[in-house]
Amino acid sequence: MVEKNAYYEVKFTDLTHDAMGVCKIDGYPVFVKDALKGEEALIKVVKMNKNFGFGRLIEIRRESPFRKLPICEHYQVCGGCNTMHMNYDMQLAFKRHRTIETLRKLGRVETTVNETVGMNNPYYYRNKAVLPFGKKGGKVVGGLYKLRSHDIVNIKRCHIFPKVFSDIVRFFRTLFTELKMEIYDEVEHTGLIRGIMLRHSQSTDEISLTLITTSGKLPHKDIILERTLNRYPQVVSIVQNLNPDKTNVMLGQKAKVLHGKDVIEDTLMGLKFEISHRSFFQVNPVQSELLYKKAIEYAKLTETDTVVDAYCGIGTIGLSLAHQVREVIGIEVVKDAVKNAQQNAKINNIKNARFIVGEAEEEIASLKETIDVLFVDPPRKGVDKKLLETIVKSKIPRVVYISCNVSTLARDLNFLQANHYKVIEVTPYDMFPQTGHIETVTLLERTK
Ligand SMILES: C[S@@+](CC[C@H](N)C(=O)[O-])C[C@H]1O[C@@H](n2cnc3c(N)ncnc32)[C@H](O)[C@@H]1O
Repeated sequence: MVEKNAYYEVKFTDLTHDAMGVCKIDGYPVFVKDALKGEEALIKVVKMNKNFGFGRLIEIRRESPFRKLPICEHYQVCGGCNTMHMNYDMQLAFKRHRTIETLRKLGRVETTVNETVGMNNPYYYRNKAVLPFGKKGGKVVGGLYKLRSHDIVNIKRCHIFPKVFSDIVRFFRTLFTELKMEIYDEVEHTGLIRGIMLRHSQSTDEISLTLITTSGKLPHKDIILERTLNRYPQVVSIVQNLNPDKTNVMLGQKAKVLHGKDVIEDTLMGLKFEISHRSFFQVNPVQSELLYKKAIEYAKLTETDTVVDAYCGIGTIGLSLAHQVREVIGIEVVKDAVKNAQQNAKINNIKNARFIVGEAEEEIASLKETIDVLFVDPPRKGVDKKLLETIVKSKIPRVVYISCNVSTLARDLNFLQANHYKVIEVTPYDMFPQTGHIETVTLLERTK
């Protein structure tokens, strides 16, 4: 019988969806962080549930040839990355394997899954960071949360953000300390500064800064602005976002602009995009471009097509393909993002695209147009059941599904393939290197 706090010699035979090593002790599965498939090790069982437990890696007895020394000094404690101990080829193979297994097990989908498309340099790729601040032992800390906790890792350098972001975090830790700013205490729900959000434009090198606070006041505002802009002239936008709620969602609904405009500009697919602080924009522009190209190739567009870009954000997908089709209709629930999308159509001189504020599941059902191609790019919870039913009812010939959660993708494909759709092909893209997150693009066609 397996016992808590006991030590066992084990062999890892698989990996979980979040990249933990899986071993079995007398048939009882135990998941161990940082262990790789094929490795043998001494572990300590630290937690036991009814059907599975968790262990800690004590010593690796036989190391996988795919193991790599993580380049980050915070890797063992930080919740940001969890596959940095795998070499990059293994990370890509892991993502393809997880895609195949999840589609098969959760969705009963058997289809072609291509190799994961990786990056030439899988570091420093993220153009956005949300960085909570707090206090520890009386000192201001700021960085990323530990895994499954709200304990802040006071990062020195992060290897997936642009290098300047780590510098900016250090700068604000010092500035907030010097100005004796009240830092937010999550447990007591007191204090002012909750954190900062940074966005970097790969095309202009500009940065937007969002100061996230619990109220509209900002003592030492002039000093903060002056010092920030002196040190980082590439900061073109500073916004104060107000979040008074006791919640672990970082951004609130209200905001005021402190410097510049509430937009930063970036380029994707040869087009210019304005992005406001609350709008969604893909975090890895290099991979997004590759993924969009595949999505557009899957759509087999013609110049008479009416295309719907559901969950369109600031309009990136729809605007990238507008020149190939008759009309694009984008649907998005965040008002600011739709404003960005409309402005983006204007600055790129695109006249055949219109954007609707609303829920995709409600809006598509009431469109008068016959849809030839539908792009869906939902958040992690996947496509709403009502929208799936509308797709089936409207007999849309081609659906291109971009997903950041292979479990909800499997669920949705399962429904569509039971209702006259064939899953033609899936391609995973490594949008989030050094983490277990998987992004995929899938082509579905209606069967005759
Ligand atoms: C994964 S993002 C994709 C954005 C865009 N396609 C892109 O590539 O940048 C999902 C978007 O769906 C929006 N959203 C969430 N639920 C929605 C709904 N029910 N209807 C329409 N849009 C929704 C979010 O605000 C977000 O902008």
